[in-house]
Amino acid sequence: MSEIIKIKNLNLSYGKKEVLKGINLNIFKNHITAISGPSGIGKSSLLLVLNQMIREFEKAKCSGEVLLNEDGEWRDILKLKEKELPALRKNIVYVSQHPDLLPFSIFENLYFGLKLQGIKKDRAKSMIKEALEKTFLYEEIKDRLHGDASMLSGGQQQRLILARALVLKPKILLLDEPTSSLNEELSSKVEDMLVKLKRETTIVMISHFKSQILKIADSVLNLA
Ligand SMILES: Nc1ncnc2c1ncn2[C@@H]1O[C@H](COP(=O)(O)OP(=O)(O)O)[C@@H](O)[C@H]1O
Ligand SMILES: [Mg+2]
Repeated sequence: MSEIIKIKNLNLSYGKKEVLKGINLNIFKNHITAISGPSGIGKSSLLLVLNQMIREFEKAKCSGEVLLNEDGEWRDILKLKEKELPALRKNIVYVSQHPDLLPFSIFENLYFGLKLQGIKKDRAKSMIKEALEKTFLYEEIKDRLHGDASMLSGGQQQRLILARALVLKPKILLLDEPTSSLNEELSSKVEDMLVKLKRETTIVMISHFKSQILKIADSVLNLA
């Protein structure tokens, strides 16, 4: 078991509002770490700290240390320079609770991140198919890959943004309530998929569901 992230005495506030206080957490490589706790306690904010999207909020102030293990070297991501953030966010990908799809086709939504990495469309096709299969979407939407993504149902959109993250093969995947719009059967399939996926990636996920946490999490941070 080896740590990939060590959070030490992390505090976060938005203006005068203190949200996270003295958080300590070790995140282990190839584990599923679950974050639970009541609404408004700071779970989503904590994920946004981990890929430093929190910097996009002017009022947000962090202190403490968030150490990331990069090939054996520990770096505090709170101290990264702006120009180092794209590389961080390539490795640590956040999947929002609310599908933030681009106003393009399903295919273009999935291809967007790959294009930024310089991957040609022909090569991307098989990667996209694989990601859609992992999220049990391929059979449902294979005939309308070039149709508008916003036409998909809520549950399909949630699986699409998960596929959009998986296609990038991130080192660390941050999932904000990934099954909240899914029915029981699909939730269970996605849970099984995440358990397989942790062989190749590290997962930090927010979950409200005790049964889900018991079933798939290797460790739990309960914010209260
Ligand atoms: N960008 C922001 N600016 C100001 N306050 C925020 C911002 N984002 C979240 N908050 C506040 O921080 C607290 C924690 O929010 P959040 O991390 O979304 O909690 P959770 O995900 O546990 O429901 C809430 O009180 C919320 O209103
Ligand atoms: Mg939240």
